[in-house]
Amino acid sequence: MKTKKRSALQVGDSELAPVSQFLNENQQQVVQEFYYDFIEMEHLYESAIREVKTKLEILDSEFRTKYSYNPIHHIEDRLKSPESIFKKMQKKGIRFSCESVRENLNDIAGVRVICNYIEDIYHVAELLIAQDDVQLLQQKDYIKNPKPNGYRSLHLVIQTPVYLSDKKELVNVEVQIRTIAMDFWASLEHELKYKSNVAVSAELAEQLKDCAKQISDIDLKMQDIYRTLKEID
Ligand code: GTP
Ligand code: MG
Repeated sequence: MKTKKRSALQVGDSELAPVSQFLNENQQQVVQEFYYDFIEMEHLYESAIREVKTKLEILDSEFRTKYSYNPIHHIEDRLKSPESIFKKMQKKGIRFSCESVRENLNDIAGVRVICNYIEDIYHVAELLIAQDDVQLLQQKDYIKNPKPNGYRSLHLVIQTPVYLSDKKELVNVEVQIRTIAMDFWASLEHELKYKSNVAVSAELAEQLKDCAKQISDIDLKMQDIYRTLKEID
């Protein structure tokens, strides 16, 4: 099958409209120049998200089949917006091109896995990383070493292949794995940080950190209860 690849010169204003509203004039010019490369790049990352989600869903359903248990509560995903990509590249002081974006940003494709218990997090991570076509590029364990503000999660950057019509591309995906409780804290903390007009005072920051600790204690207690019941069962 032979099809003609579209060129950047064919980009019309209407096609740019959905992204233009988020970009300044300079950024719009860059987008115009890289439009189709950018669309192809987005397709690649979208596909990588689907690949990783499928891997996780298969693991979860296998557990359901074999042990009547789901380690994964639910999965969320997001593709970094063009605006955020530009902002991050600008912050890093890197000239924009799709190649430089792919080389320098690890979080264009983001998958968030919400587990029931802490032990599920490590189990899911281990099984994902063990797969032949998954390569672990980076791991940050904010559960064993929480951030100073109290944030807890296991962060992985993995590389996984995406098969296209004429080539195989290795794509980086950021995977955040956390419990429902950790996710509850992170979601509210994120909202408080971005919604509030005033900087969070030292006192409130301390209170938030304390909440994270209490939530973590509850996570451990719930895991103990679960283990005890599992042994009785
Ligand atoms: P980014 O440049 O923000 O991607 O950070 P990084 O490259 O240092 O990576 P890190 O693994 O520390 O954080 C990546 C992502 O984790 C963020 O984009 C958030 O989604 C999440 N995250 C990290 N720290 C916090 C935090 O303190 N609070 C919340 N709510 N989320 C966080
Ligand atoms: Mg990020």
